[in-house]
Amino acid sequence: PTREGWSTPLTLHNQCWLRSHMLGKFMAVRDNFRPRGDDIILATHPKSGTTWLKALAFSIFNRSRCSLDNDNHPLLTTTPQKVVPFIGAVGGDLDYLETLPSPRLLSTHLPLSLLPPAVSTLGCRVVYLCREPKDAFVSRWHFENKIGKGGPIGLEDAFDMFCQGCSAFGPFWEHYLQYWKESSARPREVLFLRYEELVSDPLEVVRKLASFLGVPLTQEEEDGGVAQQVVSFCSFDSLRNLDANKAGGVERAGGKVFIQFSSLFRKGKVGDWANHMSKEMAEKMDRLVEDKFKGSGLVF
Ligand code: PPS
Repeated sequence: PTREGWSTPLTLHNQCWLRSHMLGKFMAVRDNFRPRGDDIILATHPKSGTTWLKALAFSIFNRSRCSLDNDNHPLLTTTPQKVVPFIGAVGGDLDYLETLPSPRLLSTHLPLSLLPPAVSTLGCRVVYLCREPKDAFVSRWHFENKIGKGGPIGLEDAFDMFCQGCSAFGPFWEHYLQYWKESSARPREVLFLRYEELVSDPLEVVRKLASFLGVPLTQEEEDGGVAQQVVSFCSFDSLRNLDANKAGGVERAGGKVFIQFSSLFRKGKVGDWANHMSKEMAEKMDRLVEDKFKGSGLVF
C-alpha cells in the first residue's frame, strides 16, 4: 500500500515504509549491495543525529590524514551527509561503493531487515544511534515541513501516522528493536548509542567510538586534547556554521532541491518535544513506547 500525508508519498515494503520515489533504489540494496567484512555502517532511524554521528565518525576515523585545523578538511567543503555515503542513496550509488577502498565508512537509514544478510554473517561493524522517540518525532515533523511538497503538515496528523508506524523507515520501534537485538547478538561488532548520551557526554562517546572503529585514541592524543577537538569541531554550532552546511542540498530528478543541508540543523536539544506536544500526546507516545519495547530491555 501507498500513503499520502507526509512530505512525499510512502510505500510499504517488507513491513517498512519507504519514500515511494526511492523504493527502487532501496529495494536494490538487499540484492545488490555487496558488504565487506571490514565495512563500518552508521545506521540510524531518521532525525536521530545521523549528520552528527557521520561528522564524528569521519573526523575520528580520518584524523591521521586530515587534521581538523587543515584548510583541506573534507568537512569544510562537503556536508557530513555526503562525506559518509548512504548505501544505495545520497552519494552512495551501489557501483560507486564498489570502487571505495576498504575499510569503507558507510551509512543507512534502512532497517537491518532490508540490508543483505551478509552484513551480519560477515561481521560488519555497525554503529546504531537512536533517539528518544518524542524528540525524534518533533524533529521529523519540522523537517517534513521544510522539504517536499510545501504544504503544511499538521502536528496531530503527523503524530497519528508516526504512532501507527507510518513514517519513512518506520515503524520506528521495529527499526530500534532490530538493531537493539543485533547489538545483543553481536556485542563486539554492533555499538548501540543514544543521541542523549552524545549530548550529555560527547567526550566519552568519542573515546568509545574511536576504540570501536579500531582507531583508539593514543595517550599522546589524549594529552593533546584530540577528543575535545573532535567534539568542538562537530558541535551543533560549529557544523551549522560551515559553508558546506549552509548552502546546497540533496537534489531530485529535474534538479529541484529536495533537502536543504541547512534543514539538518534545527535546534539540537534534548527534550524539545515539550515545546510542541500536548500532555495527552506525550502520554500516548510514552504508553506506545512502553508497550512496543516491553521485555526488550530497551527503555526510554
Ligand atoms: S536525517 O535527515 O535523518 O539524516 O537527520 P539527522 O541528522 O539524523 O537528525 C537531525 C537532528 O539532529 C540535530 N543535529 C545535531 N544535534 C547535536 N549536535 C549536532 N552537531 C547536530 N547536528 C544535527 C538536528 O538539529 C536535528 O534535531 P532537531 O531536534 O530537529 O534540532
